[in-house]
Amino acid sequence: MDEPAPADRIAETTARYWGRTDLVRIVLDALQAAGKDLDRLDVDDLAATDQFHGGGRPATVRLAELAGFASRSGPDAPGTGLQVLDVGGGLGGPARTLAARYGCTVTVIDLTASYVEAAQELTARVGYDERVTHLVGDAVDLPFEDDSFDVVWTQNSGMNIADKATLYRGFHRVLRPGGILAFQEPLAGPAGDPHYPLMWADRPELSFLWRDHALRALVAGVGFEEQVWELVSEAAAIATAPAPPPHAVQRLIMGDERLAAIAAANRRNLAEDRIATVHAVFRKPAPGAA
Ligand SMILES: C[S@@+](CC[C@H](N)C(=O)[O-])C[C@H]1O[C@@H](n2cnc3c(N)ncnc32)[C@H](O)[C@@H]1O
Repeated sequence: MDEPAPADRIAETTARYWGRTDLVRIVLDALQAAGKDLDRLDVDDLAATDQFHGGGRPATVRLAELAGFASRSGPDAPGTGLQVLDVGGGLGGPARTLAARYGCTVTVIDLTASYVEAAQELTARVGYDERVTHLVGDAVDLPFEDDSFDVVWTQNSGMNIADKATLYRGFHRVLRPGGILAFQEPLAGPAGDPHYPLMWADRPELSFLWRDHALRALVAGVGFEEQVWELVSEAAAIATAPAPPPHAVQRLIMGDERLAAIAAANRRNLAEDRIATVHAVFRKPAPGAA
């Protein structure tokens, strides 16, 4: 059997898979063509273009509600001031949503430099650059002190990461005691290997999906207490979803031809139970907590 690829080679190949040259221009041109005023953008204008995961912005809001975030209604409202780390945060849609709706301060780390550059541009244009910071970095080597965040957040990035034990141990390390881990992740379904291309991988060497019981056990095993574990069915939503608009992130990154192949494989994967998605919330226990 072949040796698994070393982590830094996976990271390099993953960043190459996602990366796009001239992405800032591509994104701004698409927003302008969609009728957005580039000098007066707000967070809502970006929703089709910056939420790069199944379910779009409603999935981000759903996960935030599962994690107990309350919409901000004043400076002392719950959620205001939470320090969040968004791992694999892409173009920054989830991070800006957490900042705008729930008053969080968000640090975003992502492997793909062109996404970080585009994310910074979008964050500055909507006026959130004091509350949302974007960094290039690897999720399995988090450059942060122990206990430094109230929340670790991640949507659709772990499926590119082979070393899940290191990933979740890192999440645990950087969370303060009592802090929350909230994630949306694609999972392996019971029916066997997925059909390709997937959104995150055009071949098996880039995709690392675990079955739900295995991932659940791993996260508990590194010291988290489970609060929520909900499998989300995307099949019904996809069957009735309108075609993504021209400024949708999936179209900008993948192109229409490749996206059609991804969508066809995705429908088969869902219908045949080869892929699932989880929304999960865990807590890092505080010392002495019952
Ligand atoms: C489908 S996008 C999701 C982006 C964002 N979380 C969202 O939901 O809009 C997957 C992201 O995971 C990032 N990623 C994959 N492997 C990573 C790693 N080892 N460390 C940091 N980011 C990673 C990719 O660069 C990409 O931006």
